Amino acid sequence: MYVCICNRYRERDIRDLAAGGAKSPEEAYSVLGGGPRCGRCLPLARQVMDEAAASETTSR
Ligand code: FES
Repeated sequence: MYVCICNRYRERDIRDLAAGGAKSPEEAYSVLGGGPRCGRCLPLARQVMDEAAASETTSR
């Protein structure tokens, strides 16, 4: 599933970056080589990252 349509970033990419320590969608996007454009994806990206961070915490 795409989280960010403008940049074609997938949920999996965002999740992996959150697990790797990225703290915000902006940080994750910059690692992927872009940045937010329209910004509509940011609430969903934040939610995906929060879930990934939470599952990292509980899996340790
Ligand atoms: S959908 Fe991500 S910046 Fe537009």
